[in-house]
Amino acid sequence: MSVTVIYGSDGGCTRKIAKRINGKVGGTLLDIKKAQRADFENASLLILGCPTYGGGDLQTDWEARVDVLREANLAGRKVALFGTGDQVNYPDSFIDAIGILYDIVVERGARVVGFTDTEGYDFTGSAALRDDRFVGLALDEDNQANRTEKRLAAWLELISRQD
Ligand SMILES: Cc1cc2nc3c(=O)[nH]c(=O)nc-3n(C[C@H](O)[C@H](O)[C@H](O)COP(=O)(O)O)c2cc1C
Repeated sequence: MSVTVIYGSDGGCTRKIAKRINGKVGGTLLDIKKAQRADFENASLLILGCPTYGGGDLQTDWEARVDVLREANLAGRKVALFGTGDQVNYPDSFIDAIGILYDIVVERGARVVGFTDTEGYDFTGSAALRDDRFVGLALDEDNQANRTEKRLAAWLELISRQD
């Protein structure tokens, strides 16, 4: 199975997590700055990672390149999303960005795997919720870095089991 991990990162946190994920799945790691349409279309599992900025926006490189994703044909493709955020300083828009990515990939025909529960997080609002669950993996390296390894391992296990 070919896995492609595409991430954007201002401060390096999401890059670090993306590297960690890629190390575990043995895929291809790509900064969104360099991603082409074929990179989105050719993976049998596409993992997308994005931090939230600006109180609910995509990270800047994602913002600049999101039209490439909007044009990609993801019909039937398996996609998993992970978001980095800060639930203490941005409790109303916690990991909003992956909610934005979710709507785009679903619109392009993807099957999104790896929804997770909100238990263990403390926030008031998130655009990344559907039916009270996160559309992907929620990581908070600013406040809950000690929980990341366990969350990551459980999520990777989950997405490997889901078709
Ligand atoms: C100006 C600014 C705005 C932010 N806005 C949000 C936000 O709305 N929601 C959120 O969950 N995190 C927000 N964050 C936190 C970042 O998403 C978080 O620190 C993330 O780990 C950064 O990832 P990076 O180092 O890969 O860029 C914000 C951080 C900054 C500096």
